[in-house]
Amino acid sequence: MDYILIGSKSLTKQMIKEHNNGNILGDGILRVNDLSNTNDIFSHEVYKIDIETDIDYLSIANAIKKIIESSCFFKIKCFIRGSNNFNKNSIGYNSRDIEVNAGRILEDNGFKVDLEKPSVTVIVNVINNKSYITKIFGNYLIHEKNHINRAGFKLMEAFDYFKIDIERLGIKKALDIGAAPGGFSYEMAKKGILVDAVDPGLLNNKLIDMHINHIKKRIEDFSTNTIYDIITNDMNIFPLESARIILKLKENLRKKGLVIMTIKCINKRSYSYYMKQAQMELKDSFEGFEFKHLPHNRAELTMLCIKK
Ligand SMILES: C[S@@+](CC[C@H](N)C(=O)[O-])C[C@H]1O[C@@H](n2cnc3c(N)ncnc32)[C@H](O)[C@@H]1O
Repeated sequence: MDYILIGSKSLTKQMIKEHNNGNILGDGILRVNDLSNTNDIFSHEVYKIDIETDIDYLSIANAIKKIIESSCFFKIKCFIRGSNNFNKNSIGYNSRDIEVNAGRILEDNGFKVDLEKPSVTVIVNVINNKSYITKIFGNYLIHEKNHINRAGFKLMEAFDYFKIDIERLGIKKALDIGAAPGGFSYEMAKKGILVDAVDPGLLNNKLIDMHINHIKKRIEDFSTNTIYDIITNDMNIFPLESARIILKLKENLRKKGLVIMTIKCINKRSYSYYMKQAQMELKDSFEGFEFKHLPHNRAELTMLCIKK
C-alpha cells in the first residue's frame, strides 16, 4: 500500500529524515510504501493511494469509476501540488475544473454527485503530471468558519491527530494557560468543557457568554484546589520553562489527565532538541509522549502527554 504525505515546504528535509523509504514528489510531498514503523511528526496530511492515473479529466473520471459504487453519492475534491513550475498555469486548468469536469463525466455515466452530504469524498491529488486518487467515506473538509484565531485550529487539529475522544476520556474541566485571546478556550467551551483560562491578556469578546472563567493573571501568580482533566499550554515562552510550569501544576491534574503543550522552537532545526528537553523534564510524572507538527503550527510543535 502506498501513501502520499503532504507537509509544509520548509519541512521537506525533516519529512525525508523521518521516512527514509520515501520518494520526494515535490517540496513537502513524499510517496512512501510503509507507515507502520514511523513516528510521523512532520506530515500534515496522509492519503492512501487507491489508484493513480494521468491528469486529464477523462482518465481521472475513469479511475474514479473503478473505486466507487455507482449507487453512492459522491463529491470530488482536487488539489494541484508539486514543484514550482507545475501549477494551474502550466497545465491550463485548475482544481475546480477537474472537480467539475470529471464529476460531469461520472454523472453522464449514472454516478450521483452530492456536494452537501456525500457518502464518499474522492480526493484527487494532482502532483507533477500524475493523479493520485483516494476514497474517503463521508464528507471530507468541512471547515468551521466560526473560530477565534489560528490557535483554535491548532487545538482542534491536536484533538484530531492525537485521537482524543473527549467523551470517552471524560474530559469536563480544563485549565488553559497562555489562553488569550482565547482560541483554545473557545474550542473547548464549544465542546462543553468548563474552562479556567489563565492569561494577563484580554480574551476575545466572543467568549463572554461561554462560561469561560478568565483569570487575568500570569500563571506564576495563580493557585487553585481544582483538579482538571486536561491542561492546555500555549504560552509563548521557552519550552523548558513551559514544561517546568506544567510540572508545578501536576497536582491539579487528575491521574491519566492530559497535557497539550505547544513547544515553541527558535527555528526549524531545533525541533528535536526542544522535544527531548521537554520530555526529559516531564518524564518522571508523565508518559505517552507524542509530538506533532500540526498544519496550523508555525515554528513550533504540539506535544501530548498523560499524567502517570
Ligand atoms: C500564542 S498566545 C496564546 C494563544 C491562545 N492559546 C489562543 O488560543 O488564543 C500566547 C499567550 O501566552 C501568554 N503568556 C505568556 N507568558 C505567560 C505567563 N507567564 N502566564 C500566563 N500567560 C502567559 C501571553 O500573554 C499570550 O497571550
